[in-house]
Amino acid sequence: METQFFLITDPAAQTEDVAAAAAILRSGGLLGIPTETVYGLGANGLDAAAVRRIFEAKGRPQDNPLILHIPEAGWLERYCRNIPPAARLLAQAFWPGPLTMILQRRENVPNAVTCGLDTVGVRCPDHPVTLAILRAAGVPAAAPSGNLSGRPSPTCASHMLEDMDGRIDGLVDGGPCGVGVESTIIDLTTPIPRLLRPGGLPLEQLREVLGEVAVDRAVTSPLAAGEKPRAPGMKYRHYAPKAPVTVVTGEGRRTARYIRRNLAGHMGVICFDEYADQFPGCVVEAIGSANDRAEQARRVFDALRAFDGTDVEAIYAQCPGDAGLGMAVANRLKKAAGFQVVALGEDGE
Ligand code: TXA
Ligand code: MG
Repeated sequence: METQFFLITDPAAQTEDVAAAAAILRSGGLLGIPTETVYGLGANGLDAAAVRRIFEAKGRPQDNPLILHIPEAGWLERYCRNIPPAARLLAQAFWPGPLTMILQRRENVPNAVTCGLDTVGVRCPDHPVTLAILRAAGVPAAAPSGNLSGRPSPTCASHMLEDMDGRIDGLVDGGPCGVGVESTIIDLTTPIPRLLRPGGLPLEQLREVLGEVAVDRAVTSPLAAGEKPRAPGMKYRHYAPKAPVTVVTGEGRRTARYIRRNLAGHMGVICFDEYADQFPGCVVEAIGSANDRAEQARRVFDALRAFDGTDVEAIYAQCPGDAGLGMAVANRLKKAAGFQVVALGEDGE
Protein backbone atom coordinates (compact mmCIF):
# COMPACT_ATOMS: atom_id res chain seq x y z
CA MET A 1 0.00 0.00 0.00
CA GLU A 2 1.24 3.48 -0.78
CA THR A 3 0.94 5.91 2.12
CA GLN A 4 -0.44 9.25 0.99
CA PHE A 5 1.28 12.16 2.72
CA PHE A 6 -0.44 15.45 3.69
CA LEU A 7 1.30 18.46 5.19
CA ILE A 8 -1.38 20.60 6.82
CA THR A 9 -0.24 23.80 8.52
CA ASP A 10 -3.46 25.78 8.22
CA PRO A 11 -6.62 23.63 8.23
CA ALA A 12 -8.88 26.64 7.65
CA ALA A 13 -7.09 27.40 4.38
CA GLN A 14 -6.33 23.82 3.29
CA THR A 15 -9.91 22.61 3.18
CA GLU A 16 -9.25 20.22 0.28
CA ASP A 17 -6.48 18.43 2.17
CA VAL A 18 -8.69 18.25 5.27
CA ALA A 19 -11.52 16.78 3.15
CA ALA A 20 -9.18 14.23 1.51
CA ALA A 21 -7.85 13.10 4.90
CA ALA A 22 -11.40 12.91 6.29
CA ALA A 23 -12.43 10.82 3.28
CA ILE A 24 -9.77 8.24 4.16
CA LEU A 25 -11.30 7.91 7.63
CA ARG A 26 -14.87 7.76 6.34
CA SER A 27 -14.07 5.10 3.77
CA GLY A 28 -12.55 2.67 6.26
CA GLY A 29 -8.88 3.57 5.72
CA LEU A 30 -6.06 4.06 8.20
CA LEU A 31 -4.88 7.63 8.76
CA GLY A 32 -1.94 8.89 10.81
CA ILE A 33 -3.10 11.98 12.72
CA PRO A 34 -1.25 14.62 14.73
CA THR A 35 -2.33 15.35 18.30
CA GLU A 36 -0.83 17.52 21.02
CA THR A 37 0.40 14.40 22.87
CA VAL A 38 1.75 11.94 20.27
CA TYR A 39 0.79 10.96 16.71
CA GLY A 40 -2.15 8.58 16.48
CA LEU A 41 -3.11 5.79 14.07
CA GLY A 42 -6.74 6.57 13.33
CA ALA A 43 -9.65 4.67 11.80
CA ASN A 44 -13.41 5.29 11.78
CA GLY A 45 -14.29 4.31 15.34
CA LEU A 46 -17.77 3.13 14.32
CA ASP A 47 -16.47 0.77 11.61
CA ALA A 48 -15.35 -2.52 13.18
CA ALA A 49 -13.51 -3.73 10.06
CA ALA A 50 -11.53 -0.50 9.83
CA VAL A 51 -10.69 -0.67 13.53
CA ARG A 52 -9.43 -4.25 13.17
CA ARG A 53 -6.96 -3.01 10.56
CA ILE A 54 -5.34 -0.80 13.24
CA PHE A 55 -4.42 -3.90 15.25
CA GLU A 56 -2.87 -5.52 12.16
CA ALA A 57 -0.88 -2.44 11.14
CA LYS A 58 0.56 -2.00 14.65
CA GLY A 59 0.95 -5.66 15.58
CA ARG A 60 -1.13 -4.73 18.64
CA PRO A 61 -2.33 -7.41 21.08
CA GLN A 62 -6.06 -8.11 20.60
CA ASP A 63 -6.92 -7.44 24.26
CA ASN A 64 -5.74 -3.82 24.31
CA PRO A 65 -8.67 -1.41 23.72
CA LEU A 66 -8.50 1.86 21.78
CA ILE A 67 -9.40 5.44 22.63
CA LEU A 68 -12.17 7.24 20.69
CA HIS A 69 -11.20 10.76 19.58
CA ILE A 70 -14.02 13.29 19.27
CA PRO A 71 -13.96 16.93 18.13
CA GLU A 72 -16.06 18.31 20.99
CA ALA A 73 -17.48 17.33 24.37
CA GLY A 74 -20.99 17.48 22.89
CA TRP A 75 -20.29 14.14 21.16
CA LEU A 76 -19.85 12.28 24.49
CA GLU A 77 -23.56 11.41 24.66
CA ARG A 78 -23.37 9.66 21.30
CA TYR A 79 -20.98 6.98 22.55
CA CYS A 80 -21.31 6.98 26.35
CA ARG A 81 -24.14 6.46 28.85
CA ASN A 82 -24.56 7.34 32.56
CA ILE A 83 -22.08 10.16 32.17
CA PRO A 84 -21.23 11.37 35.70
CA PRO A 85 -21.02 15.09 36.59
CA ALA A 86 -17.26 14.64 37.04
CA ALA A 87 -16.91 13.98 33.31
CA ARG A 88 -18.63 17.26 32.45
CA LEU A 89 -16.43 19.15 34.89
CA LEU A 90 -13.27 17.61 33.47
CA ALA A 91 -14.32 18.20 29.86
CA GLN A 92 -15.04 21.82 30.66
CA ALA A 93 -11.74 22.31 32.44
CA PHE A 94 -9.36 20.33 30.22
CA TRP A 95 -10.82 19.61 26.75
CA PRO A 96 -9.58 19.89 24.14
CA GLY A 97 -6.50 18.52 25.88
CA PRO A 98 -4.39 15.56 27.00
CA LEU A 99 -7.06 13.78 29.07
CA THR A 100 -8.84 10.50 28.30
CA MET A 101 -11.93 9.58 30.32
CA ILE A 102 -13.08 5.99 30.76
CA LEU A 103 -16.90 5.92 30.73
CA GLN A 104 -19.70 3.41 30.19
CA ARG A 105 -20.14 2.83 26.49
CA ARG A 106 -23.19 2.72 24.29
CA GLU A 107 -24.02 -0.23 22.00
CA ASN A 108 -22.93 1.63 18.85
CA VAL A 109 -19.28 1.48 19.91
CA PRO A 110 -17.94 -1.69 18.29
CA ASN A 111 -16.33 -4.44 20.37
CA ALA A 112 -13.32 -4.02 18.13
CA VAL A 113 -12.68 -0.65 19.85
CA THR A 114 -13.26 -1.74 23.45
CA CYS A 115 -12.03 -5.33 23.12
CA GLY A 116 -15.35 -6.39 24.61
CA LEU A 117 -15.21 -4.14 27.71
CA ASP A 118 -18.42 -2.33 28.69
CA THR A 119 -16.44 0.91 29.01
CA VAL A 120 -14.80 3.13 26.42
CA GLY A 121 -11.99 5.68 26.60
CA VAL A 122 -12.84 9.05 25.03
CA ARG A 123 -10.75 12.12 24.42
CA CYS A 124 -10.92 15.43 22.57
CA PRO A 125 -7.40 16.15 21.31
CA ASP A 126 -6.03 19.68 21.27
CA HIS A 127 -4.81 19.85 17.69
CA PRO A 128 -6.51 22.13 15.15
CA VAL A 129 -5.70 19.87 12.18
CA THR A 130 -7.14 16.72 13.73
CA LEU A 131 -10.17 18.57 15.11
CA ALA A 132 -10.89 19.83 11.58
CA ILE A 133 -10.49 16.32 10.10
CA LEU A 134 -12.82 14.79 12.73
CA ARG A 135 -15.47 17.44 12.09
CA ALA A 136 -15.22 16.96 8.33
CA ALA A 137 -15.38 13.17 8.69
CA GLY A 138 -18.38 13.35 11.03
CA VAL A 139 -17.19 10.20 12.81
CA PRO A 140 -14.98 9.63 15.84
CA ALA A 141 -11.49 8.24 15.24
CA ALA A 142 -10.38 5.20 17.20
CA ALA A 143 -6.66 5.82 17.53
CA PRO A 144 -3.82 4.30 19.49
CA SER A 145 -0.38 5.90 19.37
CA GLY A 146 1.05 5.58 15.86
CA ASN A 147 4.06 3.39 16.65
CA LEU A 148 4.56 -0.29 15.93
CA SER A 149 3.52 -2.14 19.09
CA GLY A 150 6.32 -2.06 21.66
CA ARG A 151 8.15 0.89 20.06
CA PRO A 152 8.27 4.39 21.55
CA SER A 153 5.30 6.59 20.59
CA PRO A 154 5.96 8.96 17.65
CA THR A 155 6.15 12.66 18.45
CA CYS A 156 6.56 13.86 14.87
CA ALA A 157 5.40 12.72 11.43
CA SER A 158 8.80 11.33 10.40
CA HIS A 159 8.87 9.01 13.43
CA MET A 160 5.42 7.76 12.53
CA LEU A 161 6.53 7.21 8.93
CA GLU A 162 9.52 5.16 10.19
CA ASP A 163 7.09 2.67 11.73
CA MET A 164 4.08 2.90 9.42
CA ASP A 165 5.17 3.74 5.85
CA GLY A 166 3.36 1.34 3.53
CA ARG A 167 1.09 0.04 6.31
CA ILE A 168 -1.42 2.91 6.36
CA ASP A 169 -3.43 4.79 3.72
CA GLY A 170 -2.47 8.30 4.74
CA LEU A 171 -0.38 10.33 7.15
CA VAL A 172 -1.11 13.92 8.10
CA ASP A 173 1.90 15.96 9.18
CA GLY A 174 0.67 18.64 11.57
CA GLY A 175 4.07 19.48 13.05
CA PRO A 176 5.87 18.17 16.14
CA CYS A 177 3.77 17.29 19.21
CA GLY A 178 3.80 19.96 21.92
CA VAL A 179 3.27 17.63 24.91
CA GLY A 180 5.26 14.56 23.88
CA VAL A 181 3.76 11.92 26.22
CA GLU A 182 0.33 10.36 25.79
CA SER A 183 -2.85 11.58 27.47
CA THR A 184 -3.61 11.06 31.13
CA ILE A 185 -6.25 8.32 31.54
CA ILE A 186 -8.82 8.56 34.32
CA ASP A 187 -11.47 5.94 35.05
CA LEU A 188 -14.75 7.61 35.99
CA THR A 189 -16.74 4.38 36.29
CA THR A 190 -15.48 3.67 39.83
CA PRO A 191 -16.86 5.37 43.01
CA ILE A 192 -13.54 7.20 43.41
CA PRO A 193 -12.02 8.38 40.11
CA ARG A 194 -8.86 6.43 39.38
CA LEU A 195 -5.76 7.45 37.46
CA LEU A 196 -4.91 4.57 35.12
CA ARG A 197 -2.08 6.20 33.17
CA PRO A 198 -0.20 9.41 34.03
CA GLY A 199 0.18 11.61 30.99
CA GLY A 200 0.12 15.12 29.62
CA LEU A 201 -2.33 16.40 32.25
CA PRO A 202 -0.76 16.27 35.74
CA LEU A 203 -2.54 14.44 38.58
CA GLU A 204 -2.46 17.63 40.68
CA GLN A 205 -4.73 19.36 38.15
CA LEU A 206 -7.22 16.47 38.21
CA ARG A 207 -7.31 16.66 42.01
CA GLU A 208 -7.98 20.39 41.88
CA VAL A 209 -11.22 19.67 40.00
CA LEU A 210 -12.23 16.30 41.48
CA GLY A 211 -10.80 16.24 45.00
CA GLU A 212 -9.89 12.63 45.68
CA VAL A 213 -8.28 10.65 42.83
CA ALA A 214 -6.87 7.16 43.40
CA VAL A 215 -3.72 6.10 41.58
CA ASP A 216 -3.77 2.63 40.06
CA ARG A 217 -0.93 0.40 41.25
CA ALA A 218 0.14 -0.32 37.67
CA VAL A 219 1.28 3.31 37.37
CA THR A 220 4.18 2.87 39.76
CA SER A 221 4.81 -0.85 40.13
CA PRO A 222 5.32 -3.86 37.94
CA LEU A 223 2.36 -6.23 37.89
CA ALA A 224 2.51 -9.52 39.74
CA ALA A 225 2.38 -12.64 37.55
CA GLY A 226 -1.16 -13.06 36.24
CA GLU A 227 -2.36 -9.71 37.70
CA LYS A 228 -4.78 -7.83 35.43
CA PRO A 229 -4.33 -4.05 35.16
CA ARG A 230 -7.40 -1.85 34.71
CA ALA A 231 -5.91 -0.29 31.59
CA PRO A 232 -4.99 -3.41 29.65
CA GLY A 233 -2.14 -1.59 27.88
CA MET A 234 -0.29 -1.03 31.15
CA LYS A 235 0.78 -4.67 31.26
CA TYR A 236 2.95 -4.52 28.17
CA ARG A 237 6.63 -3.58 28.25
CA HIS A 238 6.21 -0.48 26.15
CA TYR A 239 8.47 2.09 24.68
CA ALA A 240 11.42 -0.22 24.90
CA PRO A 241 14.67 0.27 23.01
CA LYS A 242 16.47 -2.97 22.11
CA ALA A 243 19.11 -2.50 24.84
CA PRO A 244 18.03 -3.08 28.48
CA VAL A 245 17.28 0.11 30.40
CA THR A 246 17.96 0.84 34.10
CA VAL A 247 16.27 3.88 35.64
CA VAL A 248 18.06 5.69 38.48
CA THR A 249 15.88 7.89 40.70
CA GLY A 250 17.06 10.55 43.17
CA GLU A 251 18.85 13.87 43.18
CA GLY A 252 20.59 14.69 39.88
CA ARG A 253 24.23 14.87 41.04
CA ARG A 254 23.89 11.59 42.90
CA THR A 255 22.25 9.74 40.05
CA ALA A 256 24.87 11.06 37.61
CA ARG A 257 27.65 9.86 39.93
CA TYR A 258 26.02 6.45 40.31
CA ILE A 259 25.70 6.04 36.56
CA ARG A 260 29.35 7.10 35.98
CA ARG A 261 30.56 4.53 38.49
CA ASN A 262 28.58 1.74 36.91
CA LEU A 263 29.47 2.32 33.27
CA ALA A 264 30.94 -0.78 31.64
CA GLY A 265 31.24 -1.47 27.92
CA HIS A 266 29.42 0.53 25.25
CA MET A 267 26.67 2.29 27.13
CA GLY A 268 23.84 4.71 26.51
CA VAL A 269 22.76 7.37 28.99
CA ILE A 270 19.51 9.35 29.14
CA CYS A 271 20.20 12.38 31.32
CA PHE A 272 19.24 15.92 32.20
CA ASP A 273 21.01 18.63 30.19
CA GLU A 274 23.16 19.71 33.15
CA TYR A 275 24.91 16.32 33.22
CA ALA A 276 25.28 15.69 29.49
CA ASP A 277 29.08 16.15 29.48
CA GLN A 278 29.70 13.76 32.36
CA PHE A 279 29.56 10.47 30.46
CA PRO A 280 32.50 10.40 28.05
CA GLY A 281 32.55 7.49 25.62
CA CYS A 282 28.78 6.91 26.04
CA VAL A 283 25.95 7.61 23.64
CA VAL A 284 24.19 10.43 25.49
CA GLU A 285 20.60 11.62 24.97
CA ALA A 286 19.80 14.72 27.03
CA ILE A 287 16.06 15.26 27.63
CA GLY A 288 16.00 18.81 29.04
CA SER A 289 17.00 20.60 32.21
CA ALA A 290 16.45 18.75 35.53
CA ASN A 291 13.68 21.18 36.48
CA ASP A 292 12.00 21.47 33.09
CA ARG A 293 9.55 18.58 33.11
CA ALA A 294 7.58 19.85 30.12
CA GLU A 295 10.75 19.65 28.02
CA GLN A 296 11.55 16.20 29.42
CA ALA A 297 8.07 15.05 28.39
CA ARG A 298 8.58 16.42 24.87
CA ARG A 299 11.91 14.62 24.45
CA VAL A 300 11.67 11.34 26.37
CA PHE A 301 10.28 9.22 23.53
CA ASP A 302 12.71 10.68 21.00
CA ALA A 303 15.58 9.73 23.32
CA LEU A 304 14.32 6.15 23.65
CA ARG A 305 13.78 5.92 19.89
CA ALA A 306 17.28 7.32 19.14
CA PHE A 307 18.92 4.34 20.87
CA ASP A 308 17.46 1.88 18.40
CA GLY A 309 19.85 3.23 15.79
CA THR A 310 22.87 2.52 18.01
CA ASP A 311 24.70 -0.60 19.21
CA VAL A 312 24.78 0.30 22.92
CA GLU A 313 24.67 -2.75 25.18
CA ALA A 314 22.72 -1.14 28.00
CA ILE A 315 21.15 2.19 28.92
CA TYR A 316 21.02 4.13 32.20
CA ALA A 317 18.43 6.87 32.66
CA GLN A 318 18.19 9.73 35.12
CA CYS A 319 14.58 10.15 36.17
CA PRO A 320 12.49 13.03 37.54
CA GLY A 321 10.35 12.78 40.67
CA ASP A 322 6.57 12.36 40.51
CA ALA A 323 5.45 16.00 40.79
CA GLY A 324 3.63 17.50 37.80
CA LEU A 325 4.59 16.03 34.43
CA GLY A 326 7.42 14.15 36.19
CA MET A 327 4.98 11.32 36.96
CA ALA A 328 4.36 10.70 33.25
CA VAL A 329 8.05 10.99 32.30
CA ALA A 330 9.08 8.65 35.13
CA ASN A 331 6.33 6.17 34.20
CA ARG A 332 7.48 6.01 30.55
CA LEU A 333 11.12 5.56 31.57
CA LYS A 334 10.25 2.88 34.12
CA LYS A 335 8.09 1.02 31.61
CA ALA A 336 10.95 1.13 29.10
CA ALA A 337 13.09 -0.36 31.87
CA GLY A 338 10.55 -3.07 32.70
CA PHE A 339 10.54 -1.38 36.16
CA GLN A 340 14.27 -2.08 36.63
CA VAL A 341 14.84 0.86 39.03
CA VAL A 342 17.75 1.85 41.29
CA ALA A 343 16.36 4.23 43.94
CA LEU A 344 18.91 6.59 45.50
CA GLY A 345 17.82 8.95 48.29
CA GLU A 346 18.00 12.70 48.04
CA ASP A 347 21.27 12.97 50.02
CA GLY A 348 23.89 10.79 51.70
CA GLU A 349 24.64 7.39 50.21
O1 TXA B 1 -2.45 10.65 23.94
C1 TXA B 1 -3.01 9.58 23.68
O2 TXA B 1 -3.83 9.06 24.44
C2 TXA B 1 -2.66 8.91 22.34
C3 TXA B 1 -3.11 9.83 21.22
C4 TXA B 1 -2.96 9.22 19.87
O3 TXA B 1 -4.41 10.26 21.46
N1 TXA B 1 -3.26 7.62 22.26
C5 TXA B 1 -2.82 6.56 22.97
O4 TXA B 1 -3.46 5.37 22.71
O5 TXA B 1 -1.91 6.63 23.78
P1 TXA B 1 -2.87 3.93 23.11
O6 TXA B 1 -3.77 2.98 22.46
O7 TXA B 1 -1.45 3.88 22.79
O8 TXA B 1 -3.11 3.85 24.66
C6 TXA B 1 -4.43 3.72 25.13
C7 TXA B 1 -4.45 3.15 26.54
C8 TXA B 1 -4.05 1.69 26.59
O9 TXA B 1 -3.21 1.47 27.74
C9 TXA B 1 -5.41 1.00 26.79
O10 TXA B 1 -5.27 -0.22 27.46
C10 TXA B 1 -6.17 2.03 27.59
O11 TXA B 1 -5.78 3.25 27.01
N2 TXA B 1 -7.64 1.91 27.43
C11 TXA B 1 -8.35 2.11 26.29
N3 TXA B 1 -9.67 1.88 26.51
C12 TXA B 1 -9.78 1.52 27.81
C13 TXA B 1 -10.88 1.14 28.65
N4 TXA B 1 -12.14 1.07 28.19
N5 TXA B 1 -10.62 0.83 29.94
C14 TXA B 1 -9.34 0.91 30.42
N6 TXA B 1 -8.26 1.26 29.68
C15 TXA B 1 -8.48 1.55 28.38
MG1 MG C 1 0.58 3.40 22.74
